[in-house]
This record gives sequence, C-alpha cells and structure tokens, in this order.
Amino acid sequence: KNKKLWGGRFAGTTAASVEAFTESISYDWRLYRHDIQGSMAHARMLARQGLISEQERDAILKGLAEIESEIEQDRFTFRPELEDIHMNIEKALTEKVGAAGEKLHTARSRNDQVALDIRLYLRDEGRVLDELLAGVQKSFVRLARRYLGAVMPGYTHLQRAQPVLLSHHLLAYYEMFGRDRGRVADCVRRLAVMPLGAAAMAGTGLPIDRRFVARELGFDEITANSMDTSGDRDFAMEMLFCLTVIQLHLSRLAEELVLWSSKEFEFIDIGDRYCTGSSIMPQKKNPDIPELIRGKTGRVAGALVALLMTVKGLPMTYNRDLQEDKEQLFDALDTVKASLSITAELLDNTTFRTDRLAEATRGGFMTATDLADYLVKKNMPFRQAHGVVGRIVAHCQERDVEIDELELDELRQFSDLIEEDVFEVLSVEGSVNSRVSEGGTARVRVEEALERAERQLGMT
Ligand code: ARG
Repeated sequence: KNKKLWGGRFAGTTAASVEAFTESISYDWRLYRHDIQGSMAHARMLARQGLISEQERDAILKGLAEIESEIEQDRFTFRPELEDIHMNIEKALTEKVGAAGEKLHTARSRNDQVALDIRLYLRDEGRVLDELLAGVQKSFVRLARRYLGAVMPGYTHLQRAQPVLLSHHLLAYYEMFGRDRGRVADCVRRLAVMPLGAAAMAGTGLPIDRRFVARELGFDEITANSMDTSGDRDFAMEMLFCLTVIQLHLSRLAEELVLWSSKEFEFIDIGDRYCTGSSIMPQKKNPDIPELIRGKTGRVAGALVALLMTVKGLPMTYNRDLQEDKEQLFDALDTVKASLSITAELLDNTTFRTDRLAEATRGGFMTATDLADYLVKKNMPFRQAHGVVGRIVAHCQERDVEIDELELDELRQFSDLIEEDVFEVLSVEGSVNSRVSEGGTARVRVEEALERAERQLGMT
C-alpha cells in the first residue's frame, strides 16, 4: 500500500520526514483548476492523435470534472504522501476511472505540466491584477475630479518646491498604476506560450500535437526548446517584478498618506472606519492601513529576490529547487491584491483639507522659479536670473517675509527689469496656471489629463 506513482524502482516506502519536507500539496493545491484545465486539453489531444480511445478520453474528462467540483466543494482529500497537486489529481482520477486515468500522463512530465499550470494561473491572475489596478486608478480620478482647482505645494527632497494642483499630484499616481497595468500585460503576453510537449526536458517520441493543445488553451504560441521549457521560470520572476513595482507604488502612496494625515501636515482626513486606535492613548487615530501596505513591500520584494536567488546557479534543466517558485508567487499575489483592493477603499474614504493645502503653498518662496522665468521672458539669461532671485530670497529670509510682500521698489533694487506685472507671477494661482507645457500643472493641462483618464477608464 501507499504506493507512489513513481514507486516501481523503489524498494521501501519513503521516510515520513522526506514526505513532509518535499511535499508541495499544502500550497500548490491552488493550481488545481489550471492543472485540470491543462489535463483536459492534453487528454483531448491524446484521443485526437489515437494515443487513447475516445471512451478513455471521455472517462478522463468526466473524472477530472468530478474532481474539480469535489475540490471546489471541499470534499476532496489532499494527500501529502502524493507530493503535489499533479499526482493528487492523477491518483484520484485513476481511483475513479481505472486504467484510463493511468493513460493521462502519456507523453507528459510533471516538469512541463507544472510549467503549464503556473502559466495558466498567472494568465488569470494578470486579469485580476488589471482590474484591481484600474480600480485604484478610478479612485484617483474621482478624487482628481472632486478637488479640481485645489492648490498644494509640490515637493522635491520633501522641501516645498513649486505650487501645483492637487489633481496633478493625484493623476501622477494614475500614470504610475497605468504603467503597472502595461507591465503586467507585457508579462502575460510573454508567458502565454504553451509548454506542454517538452515532457521531462527532451520532448517525446509519441505523436503528439502541441499546437492543438495550445489552441485548446488559448495560447498563440508553443515554447521552442524543450530543455529551456522545463528549466525556465523567467515568467515567474517577471511577474514577481511586476508585483514588486506595484507594491512599491502603493508604498510610496502609503508614505504620503501617513505623512499627510499627521498633525504636522493635516492635508487629509482618513475616515474613522479606515483607521485604528491605540490601546493606551485615547486620543490616537492611526493610519494603520497605509503603514501595513508600506510594510508589506518588504515581503513582496523579498519574494522576488527569493526566486531570483533560487534560480541563480541552477544547471539545465528542471531541478526540484524550482518548486520554491510557488509560495513566493502566491504570497506576493495575495499581498498585492489585498493591498490594491484596500487602497481603492481607503482613497474613497479620504477627504482632502483644501484650506490646509492652500495654506501650505504660502511660505517657502515657492514662486521663486516663476520670478526667474519672468526675468528670462524679459531677456535675462537664466543663470543670471537664478542669481538675482537667489539674492532676493536671501534678502527676504533676513527680514522674514515672502517675496510678494516686498514693495516694487525694493524688488527693483535687484533688477530693474522687474515691473508692476510681477505680482501676478508671484501669486500661487498665477504660478500654477503659467505651467502650460504638455504634462504641466496648469489647470487647462490638468483638465485635459483628467478627461483623458476618465475616457481611458470608461468613466464618462
Ligand atoms: N511539484 C513540482 C514542482 O512544483 C512538480 C514538478 C516535479 N517534477 C519532478 N520531477 N519532481 O516543481
């Protein structure tokens, strides 16, 4: 009893410690739907090629469908002694349909089987990620629409730099998550190549039809080299990279939300239902969600690095090390999906304090660049203008005033190119609305960007 599917050449039973150490069923059960999907396509191909009979095919298809619903309904017992999802399903199939089940693995190895399963799994997850990313984008776009016109300081080095529209800042995230969607789509396009038929690693002498299997599974291409196919995990690494960048983007946002909800900034208010309290300090309202999102970046980036290190130094072709890909993928996917979904909710439950944002644009000489540009428009070389304005700022700092609080005469001591119209340039609104270059923060540009985003997301 307790015979392994590969038990033929073995004398004794496997040590329990070895079974415990090598099993993957405790996590790769998640691949069951895709494993069954792949096996069904494979069985259809085997019958079409005359490698199994039509009755055998039908018995296999029926048995696999039953197993799928048993797993779905939690009526399936996963057996660790059967190692992984592939052998758990194959064994259950054979117990159900007898000899036909034993023919399913014809011209197939678990090496190409697992490569297929992960590709199918990630192809589906790619769609889920795309939807979640679009959801976050929509939340940003709604905020950008709601607060259109509100000004805030733009920062570099976390020092007040130039005034911008809040909506411009929000739409920056729209762009970042848009690139993430593109990256995931690229990754899925590259991984959607059908590996079955590589068998263990050398291909097979049995008359299979790989292109038929590819078509059945909705792949346009088949992998080109059987050895590459069994040893390749580029697609898993690439997906982990995509996930890492997504989580990094979320983490940068999280950092801003944490800062902005502090007393020091008071730029936002996060809804009570999306904050937590302190068990000792009764007054506290903490931004735990963004903190956790920021914190979880470590494990997602860690998953990427873990798989990179696993693959480093592996000789051709399949090595059992590769089994380590799955926990990293699953954990990173779970983490990123949960983070995306809670981020959208969090944004929908965040309000901006436009009064505080506007107040923060005053002070800090944020229109100094505008003054330099003003002088440039009057034909002063930019470097000279930079120098003039630098001296004006130093002068203001000494007297603890803002540039626009100086009298015209005082300003003219630094350059007689400065005239009455300078005060328009020194205003926050004037500064923002002067930045009309494509992609700039002028209201006209931001309105265009917002409309484009709404169109792209089908929100209009
Ligand atoms: N559970 C294995 C994995 O995830 C499947 C492939 C096993 N192949 C083998 N020859 N042991 O990598």
